Amino acid sequence: MTLLFSSQGMGDAVWRDTLAPHLPELDLTGPDWRVWPDRVGDPADIRVALVWRPEPGCLAGLPNLRAILNLGAGVDALLADTTLPDLPLARMIDARLTSGMTEYVVLAVLALHRGWMDWADSQRAGRWEELPGHDPAARRVGILGLGELGADAARALAALGFSVQGWSRTPKALPGGVTGFHGPEGLYALLAQTDILVNLLPLTAETTGILNADLFARLPRGAAVINAARGGHLVEADLIPALDGGQLSRAVLDVFQVEPLPAGHPFWTHPRVTVTPHNASPSIPESSAPGLAANIRRVLAGRMPEDLVDRVRGY
Ligand code: NAP
Ligand code: GLV
Repeated sequence: MTLLFSSQGMGDAVWRDTLAPHLPELDLTGPDWRVWPDRVGDPADIRVALVWRPEPGCLAGLPNLRAILNLGAGVDALLADTTLPDLPLARMIDARLTSGMTEYVVLAVLALHRGWMDWADSQRAGRWEELPGHDPAARRVGILGLGELGADAARALAALGFSVQGWSRTPKALPGGVTGFHGPEGLYALLAQTDILVNLLPLTAETTGILNADLFARLPRGAAVINAARGGHLVEADLIPALDGGQLSRAVLDVFQVEPLPAGHPFWTHPRVTVTPHNASPSIPESSAPGLAANIRRVLAGRMPEDLVDRVRGY
């Protein structure tokens, strides 16, 4: 019962070594662990693929593959591969992946709320500049996406006293203190009352380019934007005019159209853009291994994996 690991970016050894104690029935330090492209062996052996941004086409020639388990939350890169076999596809849900994103969002919202970047600017200029205090209840945070990540970030921000609202495709049961909006018409209502906008949507045909000049214009003047989902959500050419014209005050960006963000890209040096290297919440083998092993065991036993992706919906 052989597993194939395939990733452009993640190393396989840490996943193999972390999974091995959870799957003692497999010989993961031997023939049951294969790695694309150099250690695939006989393609007919492979039953489960563990992938993170695999090379397009790499799963197409595996005749006995039963399921694809994604080592991250977002499956947009996988679904963009037109050769992806039509097999059960599961995304990662892991408590540390969720809490890592909540840490990032809370960090960025608090930094914007308290003026942390303004203090840093003042320090660089050798300027002692006190900022007025603000009640978090008067700071309206709007979260696009109320799934595994968005709902947890919303709960944490509401617990800190922020005025939190979220947007989803369908109506949802919401964490206490969070107001919900849904559907295309709900988006405009949320934007009109959002001082800090957080994007935690999956990248789909419907959400590509959603962070654009029209959306920015619907926010109150001086609002800030945090994009921790995918670079494809942001129309990059629309951001700098919105910042330079004062419609937006700041942007905190973890994800980009091209990653790594190319040298010379204007985001690197814009004074009101904060860049982080697609690192808001990396997958953590130690915390996700038990759930991943359970899903592998399900598939090897002929059952469906949990946390399935709806391919038509795109997430
Ligand atoms: P998820 O559980 O699938 O939740 C997605 C949420 O978005 C749901 O609430 C869904 O609405 C909503 N949504 C989807 N399409 C929509 C639309 N057209 N209009 C309105 N709402 C829509 O996803 P997740 O686990 O929270 O992750 C979100 C994304 O974060 C991932 O896809 C990935 O791209 C990104 N991510 C980034 C990092 C990083 O390090 N930067 C780490 C992990 C994940 P319904 O509830 O109605 O279905
Ligand atoms: C990271 O970007 C993920 O989708 O898990």
